[in-house]
Amino acid sequence: MKALVYEGPRKVVVKEMPDAKIEKPTDVLVKITTTNICGSDLHMYEGRTNMEAGRILGHENLGVVIEVGAGVERIKVGDRVCLPFNIGCGFCKNCEKGLTGFCLTTNPGVAGAAYGFAGMGPYSGGQAEYLWVPFGDFNCLVLPPDAEEKENDYVMLSDIFPTGYHATVLAGVEPGDSVVIYGAGPVGLMAALSASIKGASKVMVVDTHADRLALAEKLGAIPVDDSDGSSADQVMELTGGEGADRGCECVGYQCSCNGHEVPNATMNNLIKAVRPTGGIGVIGVFVAEDPKAKDALAKKGQLALDFGQLWMKGQHIATGQANVKAYNRKLRDLIAAGKARPSEIISHQLPLEKAAEGYEHFDARDEGWTKVVLKTAA
Ligand SMILES: NC(=O)c1ccc[n+]([C@@H]2O[C@H](COP(=O)([O-])OP(=O)(O)OC[C@H]3O[C@@H](n4cnc5c(N)ncnc54)[C@H](O)[C@@H]3O)[C@@H](O)[C@H]2O)c1
Ligand SMILES: [Zn+2]
Ligand SMILES: [Zn+2]
Repeated sequence: MKALVYEGPRKVVVKEMPDAKIEKPTDVLVKITTTNICGSDLHMYEGRTNMEAGRILGHENLGVVIEVGAGVERIKVGDRVCLPFNIGCGFCKNCEKGLTGFCLTTNPGVAGAAYGFAGMGPYSGGQAEYLWVPFGDFNCLVLPPDAEEKENDYVMLSDIFPTGYHATVLAGVEPGDSVVIYGAGPVGLMAALSASIKGASKVMVVDTHADRLALAEKLGAIPVDDSDGSSADQVMELTGGEGADRGCECVGYQCSCNGHEVPNATMNNLIKAVRPTGGIGVIGVFVAEDPKAKDALAKKGQLALDFGQLWMKGQHIATGQANVKAYNRKLRDLIAAGKARPSEIISHQLPLEKAAEGYEHFDARDEGWTKVVLKTAA
């Protein structure tokens, strides 16, 4: 099969790889039709993780089931399904609680598995013609009859839509709240959409890229340009000096100021911009070690956090991978009902063969490259 393979920093190639296949009776095999490039792929693409060369990337996958194992009951050949980027077992202590991003079975010794992801198990990614899906009955989200027509909406259920929603859950967003979101990448934009769905009265999105801020505005948010580093002050002003009720971190450990990575920039801005007793949800990825960081603390996975401010303000922080399965069913139903259109943020649709081009532009945050979806040949 054709697949996008990581060969080293900023080197990805589409080439022939062995076909994905079913390994256990509980697995299913999916022919991928749409698969996205994600900001999480970029940490790997840039060589800022321990991703092994030779592995297939891609964790935002949608396709048609072409084979089911003998033990699969629910999923049928021909079902059009969206796969959560997390691979859960359904029966461990965490999966039972809906915390499928922290499955204890699928990546033994570490809580959490994913397709084509550094440190999250041996699973190949779906930027390929076929994908092996373990525990098929548990992991597949079956899509409704309008699946093909709304494929570019439904594919966002694999990660960024539920992840943006998770950010608002971690932050504790309730109807009427004001919410500030750091990052107007695909995930931050989905957090903005989710905050509106949850009834936020005011959504503010911080970034420095005009094209991305324009998309935030299109989604009904107030764009906040941080080019001069004044975002927290702007948020204070926009909230009458109080600070936002809730904040979401949707950037991660490679966050920058004036073109340089400043790993604590977004977290300390959030502590400043969120009001006393407010909540902060962190779904931007932070890593346990980052040997290639310039910052001495960041090399060890540490941050100089304004903890005294946080404590004095009585704020709470919640973090982690999104438990996609906890939300994908209800977000699917919002799409089906025409009440959410996450595909609005897609800027480019490319054939899988041109994936490397997509990576290059999306990684450079080139103007207008806000979200890339890849299509396999029918
Ligand atoms: N927790 C999860 O389950 C989960 C799932 C998906 C993605 N992620 C992570 O979410 C993060 C965002 O993903 P994405 O696809 O939107 O990535 P992205 O890289 O496209 O977007 C990040 C945005 O943050 C902006 N940014 C950089 N520094 C900033 C700063 N100091 N202040 C404000 N904005 C700043 C960038 O300009 C960019 O637009 C990544 O770390 C990704 O790995 C986490
Ligand atoms: Zn993703
Ligand atoms: Zn589990």
